[in-house]
Amino acid sequence: MSRNIIIDTDPGQDDAVAILLALASPELNVLGLTCVAGNVPLARTSHNARQVCELAGRADLPVYAGCDRPMGRGLVTAEHVHGDSGLDGAVLPEPQMPLQSQHAVDFIVETLRQAPAKSITLCSLGPLTNIGTALQQAPDIAERIAQIVLMGGAYFEVGNITPAAEFNIFVDPEAAEIVFKSGIDLVVAPLDVTHKALTRKAWIADLRTQNSRACDTVAGWTDFFERFDTEKYGSEGAPLHDPCVIAYLIAPHLFTGRHINVEIETQSELTRGMTVADWWRVTDRPANALFLCDINAVGFFNLITQRVARL
Ligand code: RIB
Ligand code: CA
Repeated sequence: MSRNIIIDTDPGQDDAVAILLALASPELNVLGLTCVAGNVPLARTSHNARQVCELAGRADLPVYAGCDRPMGRGLVTAEHVHGDSGLDGAVLPEPQMPLQSQHAVDFIVETLRQAPAKSITLCSLGPLTNIGTALQQAPDIAERIAQIVLMGGAYFEVGNITPAAEFNIFVDPEAAEIVFKSGIDLVVAPLDVTHKALTRKAWIADLRTQNSRACDTVAGWTDFFERFDTEKYGSEGAPLHDPCVIAYLIAPHLFTGRHINVEIETQSELTRGMTVADWWRVTDRPANALFLCDINAVGFFNLITQRVARL
C-alpha cells in the first residue's frame, strides 16, 4: 500500500532530486506538486517543477502554483546558490505540460477535505508559505493531515542564510510558526542532518555510469549546486537537503532523531527564523516534532542512485 503525499516545493536542484526520488519510488503515491516562492520566484519554481515531472516521464502529474511571497514579509530568494533559473547545471526542454489553474493552497485544502482523514502526508521542501496559508484559511484540515515531513531549521548547525536561521524557515517564519504550533505530527530534517548528507565526487561520477538521462541530469545539478557549499564550508561535497524528506518516508531506518519541542523566532530581526530546538529538554514545553540529527549517508546516496536510475 503506497503512501499518499503532496510535495510542496521551490525547485531548486535539491528539490528536483527529491521529486525524482519520490516519482521513482513505488512506496509513494504523489498526488501533486504545489509550488511556492523560495529559491527562485514562483514563476520559476512552477516552471522548474514541470520540467522535473517531464524528465521523470510524468507529464500527467498535476502541478499547482501557490503563494508568490511569504505570509507577512517580502520574498528572499537564493539565486546565489541555485543560479538564476533555479536549476542551473543541466539544460532541460521547456515544459509542455500545463500548470493547473487551481491555486496550490486551494488544492491542498480541497484534497485534504475530500480524502479520508489521515490518509495524506505533506512533504515540504521549501518555505512553509503554502501550508501555513492553508492551515490559516482552513483550520479544519489540521486534524486530517497524517504527517508533515519538512526540510527546514537548524540547531547545532546554526543558520545557512543568517547566523541564526536556515533558509526555508527564514523566508517565512510566520508560516513556520503556524505549522510548528498546529499540533500536526511533524518530522523535521534540519541542517543538523542534511549537512551529513554531503555529495561526493565518486557518487556523482557513478551517476554518470547509469546510462540514465535522469541520473546524468542529477549529476549536472549536483556539480553546479555543490560549488556554493564547498566554497563556504570548505567541505568536499554539498548537502543534499530536500531528498532527506523523501528518503525518510521510503527508508526511515536511515535516520535518527529526537522528539523535542521546536519553536520559531518571529519577532527579532537578528534571529528571525531561528528554530529554537529544546534538544536537551531544559524547558517544559511539549515535544512537537521529531527533529532528525543523523543519517546513514552511504545508504541514502545508494537509494537515490538506485531509484533515479529506474526513471
Ligand atoms: O536551506 C536549504 C533549503 O533551502 C533547501 O530546501 C533548499 O532547496 C532551499 O530551499
Ligand atoms: Ca527547497
